[in-house]
Amino acid sequence: MFRLLIPAIATSLALSNFVAAWSLTDTFQGSGFLNDFSFFTGTDPTSGRVVYVSKSTAQNKGLAYVQNGNFIARVDNTTTLSSSGAGRNSIRISSNKQWGQHVSIYNILHMPHGCATWPAVWERGDNWPAGGEIDIVEGVNNQASDSVTLHTSSGCSMPASRTMTGTHTGLVCDSSKTSNAGCGVTINDGSSYGTGFNNNGGGWYAVERSSTFIKVWFWARDSSSVPSEVRNGAGSINPGNWGVPDAYFPNTNCNIDSHFGPANIIINIDLCGSWAGSAYGSSGCPGSCDSYVNSNPAAFTSAYFSFAWVKVYQ
Ligand SMILES: *[C@@H]1O[C@H](CO)[C@@H](O)[C@H](O)[C@H]1NC(C)=O
Repeated sequence: MFRLLIPAIATSLALSNFVAAWSLTDTFQGSGFLNDFSFFTGTDPTSGRVVYVSKSTAQNKGLAYVQNGNFIARVDNTTTLSSSGAGRNSIRISSNKQWGQHVSIYNILHMPHGCATWPAVWERGDNWPAGGEIDIVEGVNNQASDSVTLHTSSGCSMPASRTMTGTHTGLVCDSSKTSNAGCGVTINDGSSYGTGFNNNGGGWYAVERSSTFIKVWFWARDSSSVPSEVRNGAGSINPGNWGVPDAYFPNTNCNIDSHFGPANIIINIDLCGSWAGSAYGSSGCPGSCDSYVNSNPAAFTSAYFSFAWVKVYQ
């Protein structure tokens, strides 16, 4: 790992004026998502009404492809399903590479939304929950803004009072103590998720994971405060200059290094299952989640991710 110390004020040698910079190590763009990620084809661990298809099936059925340089991953929107048969074809991909301490920037143009959908962009360590999980983009049904959540093994919690713009929804990260709710933070920005995100051309999410904290930022496409190094995916970045994060998880009551191991980036679109399914009834959506998925293929036309790129810095 390369972490350069660059003087923020060139004439000063005072340590407080040094800002940690991170250097670009990995770029995923276009077909890079097809080549550098693996398609998960196992049974959905969260019991969704989906079948996660292989790379060849995804490509043959037009569920994973490159369009205008952007990577598209989508749910089948043409098949009416039998209630006794398998779920709707969808995508779950995992980066072949893992990262420990790092910064990742996700430049996303469109995300799935609407009844039954449960899209997620997350970073997951090995031997869950031992290796930890950081959910960066996640929500269900008609959720109005993004949920950022950590899931860990025991011994990790967050202080109620933190310097962040988001609102905490849980302070215990230990998944075994919270029915796997984890310690979440809602981003207070309607353009961070779903229709608000898509109508605005999406935006950028960034994660900084160090020994002392995990921070997550979101900037809408039309935000005037998106750092130019984020917008451009610069070769070297200084998150210390990015301002107050939307979600801040300090190491006060959580040893970050021991609760978070080397992690893969995962992108998936679930339907129903343990979160979207259980929240479906209170989401204003019609009927039952599984039957909605079975009988309304065209409702999933907007259930797709479009990624301009993902960049990782170390
Ligand atoms: C399915 O999605 C594709 C891609 O957006 C769209 O062109 C097509 O019209 C959709 N099909 C149905 C039946 O809605």
